[in-house]
Amino acid sequence: MTTTAPNPERFELVKAVIDTTFTWDYERTRPALGKLYEKAKTSQWNVTTDLDWSTDVDPEKVSAELSGGTTMRFRALQEVENSPVKHFGPKEWSEVGIQMQNSLLSQFLHGEQGALLCTARIVETVPWIDAKYYASTQVMDEARHVEVFAKYLDEKMTRQYKINDNLRSLLDDILADSRWDITYLGMQIMVEGLALAAFGMMQTITNEPLLKQLLRYVMADEARHVAFGVLSLQEYYRELTDAEMRERQEFAFDAACRLQQRFMQGEVWERMGVDPKAVRAALDAANPPAQQVFQQMLFSKIVPNCKKLGLLDAADGWLRERFTETGVIQFEDWVDTGEEYADLDAVAQDRSEAGSEREVRTA
Ligand SMILES: [Fe+2]
Ligand SMILES: [Fe+2]
Repeated sequence: MTTTAPNPERFELVKAVIDTTFTWDYERTRPALGKLYEKAKTSQWNVTTDLDWSTDVDPEKVSAELSGGTTMRFRALQEVENSPVKHFGPKEWSEVGIQMQNSLLSQFLHGEQGALLCTARIVETVPWIDAKYYASTQVMDEARHVEVFAKYLDEKMTRQYKINDNLRSLLDDILADSRWDITYLGMQIMVEGLALAAFGMMQTITNEPLLKQLLRYVMADEARHVAFGVLSLQEYYRELTDAEMRERQEFAFDAACRLQQRFMQGEVWERMGVDPKAVRAALDAANPPAQQVFQQMLFSKIVPNCKKLGLLDAADGWLRERFTETGVIQFEDWVDTGEEYADLDAVAQDRSEAGSEREVRTA
């Protein structure tokens, strides 16, 4: 046994005391989770063979596309008196775009590893056999996602960033909590709900074919993962008291705030020699339309999914009030992910198209 502590640059330990749960009840009583499990088994894909890694990627071109999306809200600060980026010219903005893309993809990578650990945890802690079956497929999905983002960053981009502080503290808190539903709420509902929206934005904006395709496949998996959270917690949360629900509401809202912070991308501003706090203050004060749209879109999956779980209106509507103050309550009636995951199954779509082409050729 080694007595030396692991190198903190390379490893991080999170202490947790959890109940690993055997279930001796093998009866399949949750058909919605069973259906999701069947879907997961047939919609697996392979990072090495299902994507075209020979694609040439120009990081500058990719970042220029983002100027219409991710960086636009920061560019608006150019017009703001005394803003910390007032002196930026085209060269600096191009560099911001490249670094933001590196940073966003790096945070996706680290978040995927968080999902891998959380879902492995759920296999152990959730008491239902149908959920253990499904969660095991998500563990494989998340390994694939870590693999795909690590490979893309390594082969096609210019730099990998360390995990953002807000994301790290949230993942640590989720993993340190012993309650099995909190792992789901933190990961499947909040982190993955936001990731699904963020992947969707990047997938729409980018024309880089490899990134576009890999995000399409990752999103197909993520939609199932968020659906897994919705379908599992919906049942469990029906049984909780108002006081217990209030704890979940507070956890969800705190997670939302930290996730919002993570998209300020302080690590990029530090690298550009600008104080991240000053950028945040300028953005809050100016609150340009691009910022409002961006913030709101990030919540487009989280809010309807929280509603489906009964989290908006439990405990005198505490979470409804918070989301109303944040200006995102209007998403409450958007489609929830428990309903839409099958429509996002890009793997099934591509296979059925390939199948019908083959049928046409052989007819
Ligand atoms: Fe993932
Ligand atoms: Fe996921």
